[in-house]
Amino acid sequence: MASSNNPVNLLSDPDRYKRALEVTLGDRIKKVQAYCPEMAKSCKDNLGSPPDVFHFLSIGSGNGQVDVTLLGHLSDAYPKIEATIVEPSPSMNEAFKRLVGENPDSVGSVTFCWHQMTVEEFLKIHDGRKFHFIFMSGVISYLKDKEKVLIDSYWMLAENGTITVINLAKESWFYQFRDAERFPGLGIDSVPSSDVIAVFESIPVKKTATQIIEGMMEITPIFDENSTLGSMMLDLMTHTCNFRESAHPTLVADVLRYASESKLITKEGDKLYMKNHRDVIFVHK
Ligand SMILES: C[S@@+](CC[C@H](N)C(=O)[O-])C[C@H]1O[C@@H](n2cnc3c(N)ncnc32)[C@H](O)[C@@H]1O
Repeated sequence: MASSNNPVNLLSDPDRYKRALEVTLGDRIKKVQAYCPEMAKSCKDNLGSPPDVFHFLSIGSGNGQVDVTLLGHLSDAYPKIEATIVEPSPSMNEAFKRLVGENPDSVGSVTFCWHQMTVEEFLKIHDGRKFHFIFMSGVISYLKDKEKVLIDSYWMLAENGTITVINLAKESWFYQFRDAERFPGLGIDSVPSSDVIAVFESIPVKKTATQIIEGMMEITPIFDENSTLGSMMLDLMTHTCNFRESAHPTLVADVLRYASESKLITKEGDKLYMKNHRDVIFVHK
């Protein structure tokens, strides 16, 4: 088996990253989509009377599966929506645009403004427009200066607007794995939701609230070294390209042992599932 001491971060290969997310996290997407009516309602309740044009901003929107569902629910209340999409990955943007074309009934009347760039780049070119809803799902972990992005988001929010952040919950395997000092540099940066809330509460927000979306992810395939699905899962779990082949075999064995022994793993028959819970943080201006 080839091995290297320089594992390559999964984000440096956007196509592989996209595939790893799609094959691994389908269940999470469905759970978040099922939660979209709740998110739309929270925004509507806070905003009160509808604006002539409802401005929506999504940061790190990925392939758009969640955003399209959410915009569908918002469209019921706001006939005119302008959606600003900030996503650096070309393949994610392409998939998002395709999905929009396939869903004329729910988002056919939404006007999209695409920005293929990071949020840090977007903040430098932002023209001062205010948004009624700012959505950040699964992106906080990737940001270099998280506090600046959160605070700047607040200043981009219209009066009575809502920010919704979906973040890894402490009770999720991904969160705990990154926390484990045993594997420095592997996994994604875990940010406690309490830190996100603390940033917002340091500025004059009207109200913050948190809810949890519970999820389980089957990880049995990671223990089958011939499983392509298992390899993609390991890539996402460690956030490393082709982890099974590129990392030292001792490290691969250690990660697999850690995965099988974690308290966040449950066994059902011969299948193993890990906790993949998310916090939903609502911030109202
Ligand atoms: C885990 S995915 C979440 C995708 C989608 N929001 C969802 O909930 O399914 C994280 C996304 O954030 C994007 N991303 C990473 N770094 C970013 C940055 N600095 N600014 C904006 N987006 C970023 C990635 O390309 C990826 O599409």
